[in-house]
Amino acid sequence: MTSGGDSPGMNAAIRAVVRTGIYHGMEVFGIRRGYQGMIEGDIVQMQTTDVSNIIQRGGTILKTARSKEFMTNEGMDKAYAQLKVHGIEGLVLIGGDGTFRGAVNFFERHTIPAVGLPGTIDKDLAGTDFTIGFDTAVNTAVEAIDKIRDTAEAHDRLFIVELMGRDAGYIALHSGIACGAEDILIPETKTDIEEVLKRIDADERRKKAVHIIVVAEGDDFGGAKEVHERVALRFPKLDVRSCVLGHIQRGGAPTCADRILASRLGHAAVNALRSGNTQVMLGVMNDKVVYTPFARVVKGNTPISDDLLEMIRVLSV
Ligand code: F6P
Repeated sequence: MTSGGDSPGMNAAIRAVVRTGIYHGMEVFGIRRGYQGMIEGDIVQMQTTDVSNIIQRGGTILKTARSKEFMTNEGMDKAYAQLKVHGIEGLVLIGGDGTFRGAVNFFERHTIPAVGLPGTIDKDLAGTDFTIGFDTAVNTAVEAIDKIRDTAEAHDRLFIVELMGRDAGYIALHSGIACGAEDILIPETKTDIEEVLKRIDADERRKKAVHIIVVAEGDDFGGAKEVHERVALRFPKLDVRSCVLGHIQRGGAPTCADRILASRLGHAAVNALRSGNTQVMLGVMNDKVVYTPFARVVKGNTPISDDLLEMIRVLSV
């Protein structure tokens, strides 16, 4: 099952799970539309050919959803009943934070072996260095910001680019660093807008041609709109534009790194189920597959290192 916001590489993970399961003589079923499909019994048997030609495709062939009904006891009971009807004996859940929160609640009420795979562009899960889809999303953002820099430079403009990440700033952080952004505003650090304005002022005085501010949608100060308003108010003569990149970051062909991560974790997920290593999310840390209990996964992600934050200040002078 894939659940929550889709992420590039989910299809590669589905392919790996289906093929590894069948290789080991299992019957594999796909639950469509996440927990909502589980509640409604939207469950189909899958063969190896059902996952042909999908490793390179974004989105998810199983579709996905955010289910409000699954947050209720009645919803969870209905979902469990459907799993029984279809003879499901183990689950592979591919999703992000919300998916694993749902899983924790579900397993407090019902018992069924399950493993999770980190499928989210946000990279906001403990227990893994990277999540499936993050690398693709960051590369999409980098390509877009590079293009924005060209036009910003041509016009001597200040640009504010808003990237996805409701609660996490990893996409903004990584792509901001890779594009040499002058400022990176993320929810994990308190945004001091006066400091940002001071830096713009300093850049203006020494005629720095381009100033790019990358802001995560969940930043504590606000998104591109709020930052734009403050900058325009303080520097009325400055030519300011903003761009909200939005869902473009969620689509597209997965990068090589995401395809490999998804394949590796999909394969390991079936082996974990077979060996009874369950109620854990699989991740890769220091190039090794690691297993983290669902309850720990949802308790928070890895904090952003101070080294990186310091480096950003130094490199944007
Ligand atoms: O969880 C991934 C994510 O893309 C977040 O970065 C973003 O805030 C959210 O999903 C958007 O969700 P939706 O597509 O439901 O608007």
